[in-house]
Amino acid sequence: MPGAPFREFGASIALVDTGGEPLLVLGTVLGADGLPLADAVVDVWQTAPDGRYDVQDVDQPTHNFRGRFRTAADGRYCFATVRPVSYPVPDDGPAGRLLRATGRHPWRPAHIHAIVSAPGHRTVTTTVFDAADPYLDSDAVFGVKDSRIRAFAAASDGTSRLVEHFRLRRA
Ligand SMILES: [Fe+2]
Repeated sequence: MPGAPFREFGASIALVDTGGEPLLVLGTVLGADGLPLADAVVDVWQTAPDGRYDVQDVDQPTHNFRGRFRTAADGRYCFATVRPVSYPVPDDGPAGRLLRATGRHPWRPAHIHAIVSAPGHRTVTTTVFDAADPYLDSDAVFGVKDSRIRAFAAASDGTSRLVEHFRLRRA
């Protein structure tokens, strides 16, 4: 959704307590030369633990589990969230009829979406998938690439961590 609010370094994209397993996402945005990019924008979104995006769910506040983060002078970004979950794509219309006709289920493996941009660089739209998800090999919309699967490592304090570095090409 365009216009997600900018949030502070380390802020949570969970606007209300909806349960779920705490997850910290952090990393660096790099330029084509491999050097950190300050003031790059990492725009992220995911579902709530009930498997629904805010735009599908009148019970969630607008921009719940969405946010834009500007990288610091050292190129780092960081935000708090909860571990994403698998969710079914809506299957009450033509997509559902197509899935049933082809003998496929409607589930997508757990993931976080990101659009990463910086002046003078090509914007990248991508997804990070949870390596522990059972639907990685049967994503309803065929979005999984092996190179986009990550282990969400459990830290000693019980909060899982995802470290993701984004490298942008020059425009
Ligand atoms: Fe999604």
